[in-house]
Amino acid sequence: MRGRPQVTIVGSGRVGTACALFLMMRNLCDIRLIDVVQGLPQGEALDISHAASILGIDVNIEGSNDLKDVEGSDIVIITAGFARKPGMTREELAIENGKIVKEICEKIREHARESIVIVVTNPVDIMTNVALKVLGFPRERVIGFSGILDSGRYRYFIAKRLGVSVRSIEAYVLGQHGEKMIPLVSNCRVCGIPIVKILPQEEIEEIRRRVIKAGEEIIKLKGWSASHAVGAGVSELVEDILKDRRKLENVSIMLRGEYGVDNVVAEVVAVIGKDGVVKVVELEMSEEERKAFQESIEWIREVTGKVLVSLGLA
Ligand code: 2OP
Repeated sequence: MRGRPQVTIVGSGRVGTACALFLMMRNLCDIRLIDVVQGLPQGEALDISHAASILGIDVNIEGSNDLKDVEGSDIVIITAGFARKPGMTREELAIENGKIVKEICEKIREHARESIVIVVTNPVDIMTNVALKVLGFPRERVIGFSGILDSGRYRYFIAKRLGVSVRSIEAYVLGQHGEKMIPLVSNCRVCGIPIVKILPQEEIEEIRRRVIKAGEEIIKLKGWSASHAVGAGVSELVEDILKDRRKLENVSIMLRGEYGVDNVVAEVVAVIGKDGVVKVVELEMSEEERKAFQESIEWIREVTGKVLVSLGLA
């Protein structure tokens, strides 16, 4: 009989360990950390195990330097990769990280064929496409972690401006997880009231700008990328899957005709359950938002094409 679900996190840097910490605190599963750096995953696993003990949580957390240890995972979370360096384009980052994601997915395909894969490595829309190509899994089981972070930030900035609970806010972000993301205004609501009836346009635009620049703002302030919010969001997605919550989530998915788009991975909204993506839900958009969405799609399609060629996956 199977014990607790097994979730494996590849990459034991700040993001990978944040994912492990939040998963431990939710007490959802056993956890395995994998990294190439000798001792790092083992040390982080031990540290988080001690934290679990202090919290009275019985969870099995292991560290390994061997990618074969994805064996038997129900869910594999890919966080390994380089952070963008000053002056580095997203395309250059995509090629570097594409090589890492490709190698990891070759092992997942061999040792965890039935797993659901959550891709965190940036640029995530492109990395999710690379993962799909190498894994050969159905699109439902390969999910890019993106919009949960962006829409979480969107809700935060609105809640902070209005002094209401984040739980009262419905806000989604579509398109590319990056400069061309589109925090939607047309279906953003606070307590069911359209945001355009509450805030003036210029304030809405300022909030949208901060959402789009939030990743960059954090790097400028603390010197490296966000990790805590990423860990929180990934653990939310894992709980959706392990508890079959069938919750609407903002994630990056391979589109198959939705929004009139085919064969591009982009931030959309989908129902997530025990087998991954249940269905993509197409949101209404204004004409301006639809145009921006198409531009975002074209950027993703163009750069993804170049990266897949460079990796020999086209
Ligand atoms: C962010 O948006 C690094 O993609 C991450 O903060």
